[in-house]
Amino acid sequence: MSKILELKNINKTYKGTSETLHILKDLDLVINEGEFVSIIGKSGSGKSTLLNVIGLLDSIDDGEIYIHGEKVDRTNHQKIDLLKNRDIGFVFQFHYLLPEFTALENVMLPALLNNFNDKKNIEEKAKKILDSVGLKERYSHKPNQLSGGEKQRVAIARALINDPKIILADEPTGNLDEETSNEIHNLFRKINRENNQTIIVVTHSRELANITDKRYSVKNGKLFLEN
Ligand SMILES: Nc1ncnc2c1ncn2[C@@H]1O[C@H](COP(=O)(O)OP(=O)(O)O)[C@@H](O)[C@H]1O
Ligand SMILES: [Mg+2]
Repeated sequence: MSKILELKNINKTYKGTSETLHILKDLDLVINEGEFVSIIGKSGSGKSTLLNVIGLLDSIDDGEIYIHGEKVDRTNHQKIDLLKNRDIGFVFQFHYLLPEFTALENVMLPALLNNFNDKKNIEEKAKKILDSVGLKERYSHKPNQLSGGEKQRVAIARALINDPKIILADEPTGNLDEETSNEIHNLFRKINRENNQTIIVVTHSRELANITDKRYSVKNGKLFLEN
């Protein structure tokens, strides 16, 4: 199995005016291609910080990040932008869909940002992805015309449009009822199985953690593999 992601000796602090919070401490992690992994831990333990570090959304104090064996050069902003847009898909607790755009347009947007001339193909692809997440009849709905679960499905479809190698999700069902949450959990499982995409999900949901291949917990700035 090939490593898709490796973190080595990651340290992350937040410096306030009077105090410094050391959130990630010499943290190591290896994730293999195609794994579906969950990260659990108490509120404030650093789960979102870790996911943002993996997603190259946040800086680190020191340590190394490798994506597909290639060390991420944090000074190369162009490369970082490319990795973020092409190799990583992000799903948050709140969907962050653009309210003025339809479901279809929201899904198309990250692909259009790469290639404005390919609108026709991108539209076809976005429709296929929306179909695969169960939204065949919702192309032209605006976010406020969709249920909570449907909005989250659109956000997941948007995260898939550029065929990312790694999908990161931060409490993707934290805001949904149990039944809708279970549907979204099954959708992640399906995406992982059918596309062999690597998924790392931060969650408070035992049900979701239980269907992942591996469970890690964040404690005292480090990761522990659970059984
Ligand atoms: N931008 C920030 N500046 C300062 N402190 C922060 C910032 N973001 C998070 N923290 C602190 O870091 C800790 C970990 O936060 P977070 O990663 O969001 O935890 P979790 O997602 O596990 O609930 C918290 O105690 C939080 O107060
Ligand atoms: Mg969090």
